[in-house]
Amino acid sequence: MTVELTPLQLPPSADPSHFVDFGREVKGVNPGELTPTQFAEIHDALYKVSSPINLICRDSSTFFVDNEYVLPHQHGALLFRNASLTPEQQYAFTKVIPFPFHGLLTAFDLQSETYGHGNNKTESTKKSILRYIKSITRVPQVQLIGNGAVTDHEGLATTVLKHPSHTTFHNTRISEEDEAKGYTRFCRWHIDAALYEYEPSRVTTLYGITVPKGDRQTVRYDDGTGDELSVPLAPTAFVSGKTMFKILPPELKNLAVRASVRYAPHPYVWMAPARALPTGLGIEGVGLEVPVRELPDWEESKVKTYPVLWKNPVTGDLHFQVHSWAARELIVDPLPRGAERGGVLYPDGVYIKDLAEVRALLYKMQRPGIAPHLVYPHDWRDKDLILFHNRGLMHSVVGALEPDQTRVFHQCNLAASDAPAGPTEDDIFKWT
Ligand SMILES: [Fe+2]
Repeated sequence: MTVELTPLQLPPSADPSHFVDFGREVKGVNPGELTPTQFAEIHDALYKVSSPINLICRDSSTFFVDNEYVLPHQHGALLFRNASLTPEQQYAFTKVIPFPFHGLLTAFDLQSETYGHGNNKTESTKKSILRYIKSITRVPQVQLIGNGAVTDHEGLATTVLKHPSHTTFHNTRISEEDEAKGYTRFCRWHIDAALYEYEPSRVTTLYGITVPKGDRQTVRYDDGTGDELSVPLAPTAFVSGKTMFKILPPELKNLAVRASVRYAPHPYVWMAPARALPTGLGIEGVGLEVPVRELPDWEESKVKTYPVLWKNPVTGDLHFQVHSWAARELIVDPLPRGAERGGVLYPDGVYIKDLAEVRALLYKMQRPGIAPHLVYPHDWRDKDLILFHNRGLMHSVVGALEPDQTRVFHQCNLAASDAPAGPTEDDIFKWT
């Protein structure tokens, strides 16, 4: 059966002009049991919205995809309704087993066998802010997340899950009185990435097995702008890194295209005592981080430095992909020879180690990209599966749940076998 793609239904708050290619609902397939042809179509939808690719069957077990036609846009998120997936199938789908493709330049990662933060590592790192994530025993690449008590689930005995909330992570919180009125916040804007030792996953799958029912809530940004966003109960919010870059003024594009972020060692332990901004887009103030000398043992060679802009190797688009909570230093390359210097920030380059300055600059560049009209809050239904391009989008948990509002999700992302690519010389020439 041919895969059918229809646009994701956007909320009234979203500006459709910024979501033309953002996401699609995939109909007519079960993602747990894809044929090679269906997989190729889904791969194509995620990476290069296109006229039909040339899928060539060489023999009964080997395929390759002719990437002759590189097209200018792609979908960052694909939704499958009413999906039935075991953890094994979700892992296989995320990894692209058992399909023996060759020539898939960018997609899911055949060499990848490790959860994005290391198998069974997240839960055991008790000082990490990600300690609420629990691995499925049989398939440690798949994680159980959600809210409420879950009994005898995929080999796990009774487990009490806790929906991450801004009340745990933010420096300030919405008053209990306002929470009772339905006000809430984005919890933590992020990319699924360890940002130490392991490379950021290319895709993440989120499978909503049991979705809580309840009234809509209102996200308050609480940053003096008055921005608010009406959301369904406990959505996952997505923004496009491509849009985040596209809407920047020229001087910040010029800076972003030359900049790289050096992340902290063991960043989720390092940031644990710190508290976040009310938008969930980074840390407020400085000084609460775990001193580097007090972190668990770490190696310089495993510390990650990534470009601010990640280049989609198929479309060539640049996506602003920075996990600002974990960022420690900012490295800006000098302008290329002959570039116009007027009005340019750091024309000779700079290595910023002042954490307050790093955070302020990143926030200035990223905050426009989470404006209410640029956010897609996914309204989950039972058995929804979302496959998203983790190197092209950022996302956040949203909302607050009571203990009896059960939410059972399986999440899978795999540490990639390569690092994200940054801007090319041509990109730098174009934007400086
Ligand atoms: Fe995530």
